[in-house]
Amino acid sequence: MPGHGRDTSARRPSTRVHSVTVRTIGIIGGGQLARMMHAASITLGVRIALLAEGPDVSAAQVVADTDVGDYTDPETVYAFAERCDVITFDHEHVPPPILRELQARGKQVHPGPDALLHAQDKVVMRERLTGLGMPCPAFAVVADADELRAFGERTGWPVIAKTSRGGYDGKGVWKIDGPDDADEPFANLKPGVRILAEEFIDFTRELSVLVARRPSGEERVYPVSETVQTNGICTHTFTPAPDLGAEQRDAIEAMALRIAAELGVTGILAVELMQRADGSVVVNELAMRPHNTGHWSIDGAHTSQFENHLRAVADLPLGPTEVRQPHAAMVNVLGGARDDLLEAAEEAYATDPGARVQLYGKSVVPGRKVGHVTVVGDDADDVRARAQAAADHLMGVQR
Ligand SMILES: Nc1ncnc2c1ncn2[C@@H]1O[C@H](COP(=O)(O)OP(=O)(O)OP(=O)(O)O)[C@@H](O)[C@H]1O
Ligand SMILES: [Mg+2]
Repeated sequence: MPGHGRDTSARRPSTRVHSVTVRTIGIIGGGQLARMMHAASITLGVRIALLAEGPDVSAAQVVADTDVGDYTDPETVYAFAERCDVITFDHEHVPPPILRELQARGKQVHPGPDALLHAQDKVVMRERLTGLGMPCPAFAVVADADELRAFGERTGWPVIAKTSRGGYDGKGVWKIDGPDDADEPFANLKPGVRILAEEFIDFTRELSVLVARRPSGEERVYPVSETVQTNGICTHTFTPAPDLGAEQRDAIEAMALRIAAELGVTGILAVELMQRADGSVVVNELAMRPHNTGHWSIDGAHTSQFENHLRAVADLPLGPTEVRQPHAAMVNVLGGARDDLLEAAEEAYATDPGARVQLYGKSVVPGRKVGHVTVVGDDADDVRARAQAAADHLMGVQR
């Protein structure tokens, strides 16, 4: 692919051997991202230790060295971290004071708390990115429904309201069509959580771009993906994003690399973008961990996002990020009509042995992410159709 596979490193990896070799990476959070990081750790030969929410969560099923405990309890985290050379995350919810104390005790934390704050708090993220001159929706922090109404009158309806912290998969995001709906975001607001009002972006599609960055500064960017969110949940990605001009692709990649460097991100940074009909983009939000929109990279890139996340947090030279095949389509498997995913997978494999299925070991709950399918190949329409067909098998969608 033209443009992909260029070496976008800010610095060439050095051949220097580190004084501190990372042998054990501690992951806080036991979801599917930790499970897929564990898979990558096997070939790298590094050990994974896990702090999981429960004994049978997705990653706890596969990581032998697992503590079960509460990641908001400082002593639990400190005790866990003792046997780890570096701490990283499956999610962004560990309280910053705990991470600062870990650093004060000499522990490496990647991404560090100062960077991570921009993925934890959407107000902090908006203020910082706007300050850096990155394209963002107009926004304001609104204290109550009246301020939200005033924002809507100023910018025009509809507007988007979001909780500053704790949202995921569209939970904590509201489209406010007019003044009558303005009370909704303020019901059941948790302490310390603010409401961010944003201009509604009438986007034609959403995009995502991932960067891997090491503490020593080496960065690599993955090809831009088109992403589809349905009811706030990512359901599809197509990589590279179709019909993205080279100039625009380069601008998006440069923007993501700059954000990673300015914020001092270590590990994977995902930048979610919204693209308007005129081609312009605005940043939606940031994540600092492997991201759903990068799952295609397991089967479709020379180095998966999970491997590069581990390499980055261990400060190892990063692997190449270019595509292995011209097109990759990823379809999420959401809990649906079938409870027995292994039985369903057998049919999917029989129908299309080339469809790459990942199951997360999670019980089926309607709408819950329980796996994904990736198909790579030469023909964009073919890989889309095949990925969808395999995912439909797994979800029990009648075709
Ligand atoms: N300003 C906006 N204008 C229009 N649509 C928006 C805007 N902000 C967010 N959205 C839509 O809402 C979706 C969810 O928003 P956002 O990514 O902030 O929430 P989230 O719940 O944190 O998401 P995630 O599942 O990625 O954690 C976006 O993917 C986009 O489709
Ligand atoms: Mg999002």
